[in-house]
Order: sequence, then C-alpha cells, then structure tokens
Amino acid sequence: MLRSTILGLGSYVPDRVVTNDEIRFLNDQHVKCAEPQTETNDEWIKKRTGIEARRYVPNDGKIGSSDLGLYASQRALEDAGVTAKEIDCIIFATLSPDIHFPGNAVFLQSKLGIDGEDGCACFDIRQQCSGFIYGMQMADSFIKTGVYKRVLVVGGELHSHSLDYTTRGRDVMVLFGDGAGAVVMGPKETDSPTDGVLYTHCGADGSGAMDLHLKVFEIAKLPYVYYDAKNRDQNSIMYPQMDGKKVFLNAVRAMVASVGRALRETQLTWKDIDWFVPHQANLRINEAVVQYAEIPPEKALNTIQYYGNTTAATVPLTIDHWRKAGKVKKGDLVLSTVFGAGFTWGSAIFRV
Ligand code: UT7
Repeated sequence: MLRSTILGLGSYVPDRVVTNDEIRFLNDQHVKCAEPQTETNDEWIKKRTGIEARRYVPNDGKIGSSDLGLYASQRALEDAGVTAKEIDCIIFATLSPDIHFPGNAVFLQSKLGIDGEDGCACFDIRQQCSGFIYGMQMADSFIKTGVYKRVLVVGGELHSHSLDYTTRGRDVMVLFGDGAGAVVMGPKETDSPTDGVLYTHCGADGSGAMDLHLKVFEIAKLPYVYYDAKNRDQNSIMYPQMDGKKVFLNAVRAMVASVGRALRETQLTWKDIDWFVPHQANLRINEAVVQYAEIPPEKALNTIQYYGNTTAATVPLTIDHWRKAGKVKKGDLVLSTVFGAGFTWGSAIFRV
C-alpha cells in the first residue's frame, strides 16, 4: 500500500525571549519602557493561559514569516536528507504572510534557491491555527495519488508586529509569539496499517468566522484600507479581534470531537499512540481536551509555556521541541489535533 510519510522535521524560533514580566513594559516598537504600557501581569497570563514567555523577531524590518519558514525548512531538509532541489511542492500555512500577494510559498521557494523555469508548485493556505494539519492532509493526498513526491509543508508566523501593545489589545497580545516549523513528506510502500501518515481529517464552521479575525483591509470598501494615525479606535482593524470565551468553548468541543473521530475511524486506542500533540492556544484548552477525550495526561505534549501561540507552527514546533529534549523518538506515533480561526479544525495520526 502506498502511504505518505514524514521524512524529516525542523523548527525555528527567534532568540529574543519576551517574558510575561517584560511584555507589559513593551511599546509598539517592542522597546522596553520605564513605565508599564499595558495593564497585565505574569500571574494573570500564567493562570489563564499557561504562557510564561514567547519569542520575538529582532525589530529591524529584515525578517518576515517566509524567513522563519526558511530556517525551519532548512532544518527539516537536513533532517530528511533531502536537498531543496528534490522538493516538487511547497505548502506554506500562515496568517501573517510577508505581503498580501503573492503568498509566502514563492518567496520561500526563491530563498531555498529552487526558483526558475522548472520551479516547483507553490501553495499558500490560510487556515490559521489549523493550517499545518490542513497542509499535511493536502500533502498526503498529493503523495498518495502520485501528483508530487517530495512535499515541504511549512507553518510560519510573525505575530509580534501586528499586536496591540495597549490594554485594549491585551487579551490577544499576550498570547502570540513568532516561530516556524516544517516537515518534508514523501511516499512509502508499506504493509503495516500503522505506518507513515495513517489518518487525516479536517473540518470548518464558517459561522464562527468573525469570532477571531484580523481585517487589515476590507476589499468591499473604497478606500479598502482605513488608516488615520490619530484615531486609535479606527486603527483597531490593524489588530486581531477575538471573542475569547466563544473561541475557547468551540476549541474544546471541536478538538474533543475530532480526537474521538480519529480514534473511531482508525480503530486505534491510546495504547497504540505514543503522543497527543494539540495546537497550542491555551494550556487550559489542552487540559480540558485531555480530560474530556480521556487522553492519558502523560501522553500530551505542550510548549505554549515557552513559545506562546505560534498559530500554524505549533504542531511541528512542539514535536521538534520534545524530540530535542529526548522525549519524542523517531518512529513514535503521534495524534495531533488543532483548532483555529474560521472556525477550522483537524486531526492527523502519523509516525515522526
Ligand atoms: O489559536 C486560536 C484560538 N485562540 C484561542 O483558542 C484563544 C481562546 N481564548 C482564550 O484562551 C481565553 O478566552 C483568553 C486567555 C483570551 C481570556 O481568558 P478568559 O479566562 O476567557 O478571560 P476573560 O476574557 O473572561 O477576561 C477576564 C478578565 C477581564 O476583565 P473583567 O472584565 O473581568 O474586569 C479581562 O478584561 O481578564 C481581563 N483580561 C486581562 N487581564 C490581564 C483580559 N486579558 C487580560 C490580560 N491581562 N492580558
């Protein structure tokens, strides 16, 4: 039977660590001021989210999310023993692309040095925190049907430039960090029912679309970007808006259902699966999913404490973090479940 499999994995986070104690002193240029800029504190953030720190890119205007994706991809390619030239498809999941169009995948292709008249197919996908699992499902389908043979799936986000560093934006601002993760996927002939990528499923509920969104512009309006530097309220379209409680409840519900469906459809149990890797939006969400879906707590891997929410990057970043720490080993079976803006969700079961 032809399956897709993960050939290699890599991740990247910038060096700058922004702790909960520091974040309330940052202005919109990420400069630490003498006086607090946002009414928040370490105790609230840790208790409500589990987050202790996040990573920020240097604020010199030289790094975009395609660069974060590049660094993660280079590590994934090295891990896979695959050269960039062998990649015949790139799928880049991000909600923070370098520019509006073209998408990040073509910038990444060029930065990998594989652009030109024989350049590979490049897709950008916009499924926010579910982007990585959506990307894996696409790659899996492409590989199993023989359309592509070496697919690079990347999740990369630069959040720190589009957050509201005032009390008005504190509910969202404290959650997010910068980072990227990538996998190289390819075909594998196998008779084992639990080899490679053995399950993917994705879903969405568009009725929740505006419960977590970032406008920046509205193409239905003319002019389609409103910007008045003196009007802070109008400028709120530059920042993500979220109904936190609604997103929280929907995340728990959808992730529990998605885990149940994955186990039902594959006939696997937690005896078969080594690790549960949930999206990293809030430690309380993940603890609730573990409880309601009856997942052995010791099998759940989290990294939100160190990196905050890196949206499309959380899944490969979390696997790579715990692999480097010696916990996750090559060949381990992972069930990963995600939820994000849209609303979107999905699960995948695969060997790392
Ligand atoms: O990755 C995509 C999906 N995203 C998510 O899944 C996020 C889902 N939502 C959440 O994680 C949580 O709803 C939040 C962490 C955003 C908020 O936690 P909460 O327990 O739902 O708090 P809340 O929104 O009910 O706010 C409680 C209080 C409010 O003050 P009052 O009205 O009770 O006086 C907020 O203004 O906490 C206040 N608050 C803060 N205080 C200190 C909100 N943000 C902050 C903050 N620091 N950063």
